[in-house]
Amino acid sequence: MSFETILVETRGAVTLVRLNRPQALNALNSQVLGELITAFAAYDADASQRCLVITGSEKAFAAGADIKEMSTQSFADMYGGNFFAGYDHVTATRKPWIAAVSGFALGGGCELAMMADIIIAAENAKFGQPEIKLGVTPGMGGSQRLVRAIGKAKAMEMCLTGRMMDAAEAERSGLVARVVPTDQLLDEALKLAETIAGMAPLAAIAVKEEVDAAFEMTLKEGVRFERRLFHSLFGSADQKEGMAAFVEKRPGNWTGK
Ligand code: CAA
Repeated sequence: MSFETILVETRGAVTLVRLNRPQALNALNSQVLGELITAFAAYDADASQRCLVITGSEKAFAAGADIKEMSTQSFADMYGGNFFAGYDHVTATRKPWIAAVSGFALGGGCELAMMADIIIAAENAKFGQPEIKLGVTPGMGGSQRLVRAIGKAKAMEMCLTGRMMDAAEAERSGLVARVVPTDQLLDEALKLAETIAGMAPLAAIAVKEEVDAAFEMTLKEGVRFERRLFHSLFGSADQKEGMAAFVEKRPGNWTGK
């Protein structure tokens, strides 16, 4: 696979995707989206890959959707072309992925990070939904995912004013799992990814499905859904292996079966 706007490599069982449009602070244009769709689908389909990290540069994870690309578009172009709908393919990724955010994560950059299962932030990270300053609103799920992540009060304030939230506030507010020194961001994200990659693959997919279901189901439905997935894992070889490994005081040797 050859890409022009992203760099993709594998490190053991971890796929590393770097947004790579430094001249535009990694602004997300249609080409980036197309390449992300391909890279994420390849990750999901490759049984040797068990976690993915997406990151940007030190200055910018991504400074938003590409304003220059959007500036001349009409309503018919955007609505007729269902602009941004391609991100549904990214969020359909079944295996876990982590956003490692340094610098600006604005507009679509913040929204892409929020699509990830976990966000880790560098101390210099800045999150924001500044679309209102451009006369529009978030368009890649920001108004919905930000409310779910940090609650209505802060989400409304951020979307209505476009103000940026620093890493410390993002951690306090529950937007990010952890803040790390800027120069250690990638190492820490890869370490976390390796930890996840070392877990039983079917259980990792099931955990992701269950936690995501909490946003869509009532508590009663969600608990039932979780219990059924839990039951179903007793049909897997890895459940037998994991419990035997505990009893025998050794690490589990997973097959993903
Ligand atoms: N789209 C296109 N180009 C962008 C961009 C974007 N979102 N963000 C930055 N760039 C470009 C700049 O135009 C500039 O290019 P030129 O050198 O050709 O002029 C280059 O990246 C460097 O940017 P700056 O000179 O502005 O860098 P700075 O350090 O002075 O400022 C910044 C950094 C505060 C992030 C500023 O670039 C900025 O405000 N960017 C736009 C942020 C924004 O509004 N994002 C939301 C976009 S809309 C959206 O995302 C919709 C949605 O819901 C998905």
